[in-house]
Amino acid sequence: MPNEVYGAARRRYERPWPVGFHRIDVAAVVDNAGVMKAAFIHATGPASNIQFGDLPRPVPAPHQVVVRVGAVSVNPIDTYIRSGLVPMQLPQPFVIGCDFAGVVEAVGAAVRAVKVGDRVWGSNQGLLGRQGTFAEFIAVEECFAYRAPDTVSDEAAAATALVGITAHLGLVREARLRPHETIFVNGGSGGVGSTVIQMAKALGARVFACAGSDEKVAACKALGAEAAFNYQTQKIGDELKKVAPAGVNVWWETTREPDFDVAVGALAARGRMIVMAGREARPPFPVGPFYVKGCALHGFVMFLATPEEQRHCAEDINRWLAEGKLKPRIDRVLPLSEAATAHQLQEEATIKRSGAIAGKIVLKP
Ligand SMILES: NC(=O)c1ccc[n+]([C@@H]2O[C@H](COP(=O)([O-])OP(=O)(O)OC[C@H]3O[C@@H](n4cnc5c(N)ncnc54)[C@H](OP(=O)(O)O)[C@@H]3O)[C@@H](O)[C@H]2O)c1
Repeated sequence: MPNEVYGAARRRYERPWPVGFHRIDVAAVVDNAGVMKAAFIHATGPASNIQFGDLPRPVPAPHQVVVRVGAVSVNPIDTYIRSGLVPMQLPQPFVIGCDFAGVVEAVGAAVRAVKVGDRVWGSNQGLLGRQGTFAEFIAVEECFAYRAPDTVSDEAAAATALVGITAHLGLVREARLRPHETIFVNGGSGGVGSTVIQMAKALGARVFACAGSDEKVAACKALGAEAAFNYQTQKIGDELKKVAPAGVNVWWETTREPDFDVAVGALAARGRMIVMAGREARPPFPVGPFYVKGCALHGFVMFLATPEEQRHCAEDINRWLAEGKLKPRIDRVLPLSEAATAHQLQEEATIKRSGAIAGKIVLKP
């Protein structure tokens, strides 16, 4: 992808760290006595740049915990960072990945909230200068490690991490979804969309969704959608008129190229629309219909939410996971050594719309 397209994004990431974040060079703090397996890159580029091999095991800085990783999951942002599509300052070598779940192996001197042996999960790693998670051991700031419910597997916790926090931020902080409101999820079969369906249902909303095959449409319904449509064969605007004649209160857009004419047309008065993908997208926007209905547009990236905001999301996510209201849609589980294959699959699904995966790819060291 040409660098000029991402000039704006690059300039944004070259600003000083946002308030509440401090840069941590975890790679500088290592225990030279031990090595571990990890998936890492020396330079951004194609998935084939990912190496699987030995790196030094990290030791915790005062506010960090070292986690023996049980599972990680892939997110589209992992592939954007690895490819250079989203420029980030990267430690050298850079361990890829944002999400993790596992057991606390060691804690720094100032850590208070967790102890050795606790099961934890989290996200927001591999971003803003932090090392990533695709390794046997990782050092994570205590503020980003959440205790995992006993009944929730590492695979499930890792698969829920980034998409769960994203869904929560969008539904609760941004859209302020209320019980009995209606929401349409444009792309309910993916990592984010499948989580939004379940979380919106847990919040008491009526949920509609769409997906790209009849099988995935059925999966959206199984996750809690009252009605779901096939975007390949049906006109979403027409179908929504049948199930929500007054319009939907919230439209959650997961695609990278939103069709605002359809979305704004489907919104109810004072409807809210969530956008969270497609940095290079510059689609036409129907200003008149939008403001006359009193609608609002909300955009956000989860990794700029404060640690406190993310922890608030994690608390609800833990409750819903434990209650069985949130069950991650795991497409497949691979060994960590197949990280490059996993990146290739995710990239083809999200960017090239191959439809080849349905939900999350989980990897295990
Ligand atoms: N802003 C943030 O904080 C944030 C956080 C997480 C993710 N994201 C971004 O959000 C996007 C989705 O992430 P993800 O993890 O859910 O990716 P994903 O698992 O690859 O899901 C992509 C979804 O898009 C759907 N889709 C493709 N073409 C469509 C169309 N024409 N109409 C409707 N739906 C369509 C797919 O449906 P089918 O498979 O059924 O075709 C699938 O459900 C990515 O671009 C990601 O980078 C942003």
